[in-house]
Amino acid sequence: MGLVYLNGEIIDEADASISVNDRGFVFADGIYDVIRVFGGKAFEMERHLARLERSAASIRLELDPSAEEIGRIAEDLLIREAADEATIYIQVTRGAAPRSHAIPKGASNTTFVAIRGPLAPPPDLLKNGAAAITVPDDRWARCDVKVIGLTANVLARSAAVDAGAFEAIFVRDGYVTDAASCNVFAVFGDRLMTAPCTNYILWGITRAVTLELARENGIDTQEAAFRAEQLAQADEIFVTGTTSGIMPIVTLNGAQVGAGRVGPITRRLMELYEVRTGGANALAQAAWAH
Ligand code: PDD
Repeated sequence: MGLVYLNGEIIDEADASISVNDRGFVFADGIYDVIRVFGGKAFEMERHLARLERSAASIRLELDPSAEEIGRIAEDLLIREAADEATIYIQVTRGAAPRSHAIPKGASNTTFVAIRGPLAPPPDLLKNGAAAITVPDDRWARCDVKVIGLTANVLARSAAVDAGAFEAIFVRDGYVTDAASCNVFAVFGDRLMTAPCTNYILWGITRAVTLELARENGIDTQEAAFRAEQLAQADEIFVTGTTSGIMPIVTLNGAQVGAGRVGPITRRLMELYEVRTGGANALAQAAWAH
């Protein structure tokens, strides 16, 4: 069993325990982040730690240890676990306190860091594209904060799994927001579109990297709201996330997307992401080569 960090100690996961009064358990009163490790190196660690800090501030939680210290703890665990292809999971809750809604005075945070598997998506889906469905976005209105209360996301992903799909894309008031654990991109002609960074989407790190790659490589991008009916007419769709990388979507609600194949802009961005991460979609690349 692996080593984990819990409240100041690095211990065996089997020995890690928290109180039943932990506000994470009682109220889902906490935040988290997930960082991908490629070839032993944490990808975009600084941006993830900045987001963790922002998430904490958004729920009036003071990080202690600080985001910077949490980063060092994660690096230490990576070395101890000799993790090569992995994810780093970080969770901070408001700690244990008698059940009462208001923020308790004097409780100390529960801070947890663990190295997990890479959860890399199946190579055949990366190669041939995956299916997605749309679902109503019934999450709260602060989707930009990475809180641990993920019941709506759990139900959405489960609806996707039940439908034989990879991901569930959220639609709020007719507009595409993000997905159960990914951001959503659509290609219309030669323009790449994704929803803007408002309170209705998570400001994904993979989303930001994808936009940078597109802009650096002359792909026309637009961060603007678009409707579910437009998504259904897109030439290409893909979703992005720490655990999914860039995943092409070739079927939406059972209907073919564009030509029903991984489109050229998606494929180009997957290749660029592969170079940027040094191996994210290596298996798909190998498959394409044959
Ligand atoms: N999920 N949208 C939602 C709702 C998410 O939960 C995530 C990430 C993303 C993509 O963000 P990023 O590119 O920073 O991973 C978008 C993580 C991976 C998770 O819950 O496991």
